[in-house]
Amino acid sequence: MEHPIGLKISEPDLADYYPLPPETLDERIADVKARLSDRLLILGHNYQRDEVYKFADYKGDSLKLSQYAAQQKDREYIVFCGVKFMAETADILTTSEQKVILPDLAAGCSMADMADIDTVETAWQEITRFIPESSITPITYINSSADLKAFCGERGGLVCTSTNAERIIRWAFKRREKILFFPDQHLGRNTCKRMGIPLNEMILWDPAKPNGGNHPEALQKARVFLWQGFCSVHQMFQPHHVDYFRKQYPGIKIIVHPECSMEVADKSDLMGSTEYIIRTVTDAPSGSRWAVGTELNLVNRLKRDNPDKEVYFLSPMVCMCSTMFRIDAPHLLWSLERLEAGSIVNRIIVPEADRTWAKVALERMLELA
Ligand code: 13P
Ligand code: SF4
Repeated sequence: MEHPIGLKISEPDLADYYPLPPETLDERIADVKARLSDRLLILGHNYQRDEVYKFADYKGDSLKLSQYAAQQKDREYIVFCGVKFMAETADILTTSEQKVILPDLAAGCSMADMADIDTVETAWQEITRFIPESSITPITYINSSADLKAFCGERGGLVCTSTNAERIIRWAFKRREKILFFPDQHLGRNTCKRMGIPLNEMILWDPAKPNGGNHPEALQKARVFLWQGFCSVHQMFQPHHVDYFRKQYPGIKIIVHPECSMEVADKSDLMGSTEYIIRTVTDAPSGSRWAVGTELNLVNRLKRDNPDKEVYFLSPMVCMCSTMFRIDAPHLLWSLERLEAGSIVNRIIVPEADRTWAKVALERMLELA
């Protein structure tokens, strides 16, 4: 049995689930969920496709989901419909008796993969040759692996999400004069720019080049070191898409995720996390017009849930998060039925060596949030 759109099916027994009609998948997911009852919690990120999103007990952006996971001490199984860094975060914030499951282990995040512990450690060594370690705070976007969160925790740094990046950066600047921000250059730049930090105080760190491609003098002067990472989905939105919608639909509001480039963010009316985008459009007056710069599944749902408004997708291209998309109804059903049968598939376990400091970095963020 082939995956319907040609993706590799990760587990042999999963092949039995793909021929099932959607109604059967729905029925069996609802049944197994009911049987697992209070032992189970399904979390769903706002980019998940409808066929799994509708089964989530709690939905939201990365911050909301991590806060909620941290409060759930009595659920034995947490099935995370999202991507790997989110499931790792849930594992760090829950007890060792609780089991976090990612229905498809191939659901990663291409941006998170743009920074790894070896290149970040090398960068840190290079930077701290010119700048004392006590004057720089490492901040990682939550879209990163657990070892990078641990790296930050151990060095007085912390995690941020798209909701609280500004608050976290302000906190860091109260303590030390510089920040190293990874892996998303755009969230870092857009946030710092809105805080009034001039562009000439930010430098881009290219991990493939010595000193990140910067002159030692520039390293000494800079306040913000931005890792050269980006989201392949959000980089598809271009400034001319904003111009097109403004011209075509007078009065339209442009709302984008901060992972969009600075050129797009600067032309937009509003910028914020997936939860902020959903809340803003949902609470907007009837008849208002919106062009939304974030993932397609979210925008299509927003369009459907707001028939009294005009909601457009801010790109002629299909900007879908292909890794989020990997979590489908067959994977969800398969993982739940395996759980019920006593076999825990695709459990995410953060190694003990990373867990302690990663938890420190996450808890610093949660305290500030
Ligand atoms: P949010 O935290 O805004 O949901 O964003 C997560 C993400 O991966 C966006 O691409
Ligand atoms: Fe990662 Fe981009 Fe997908 Fe978000 S949309 S999970 S940043 S690849």
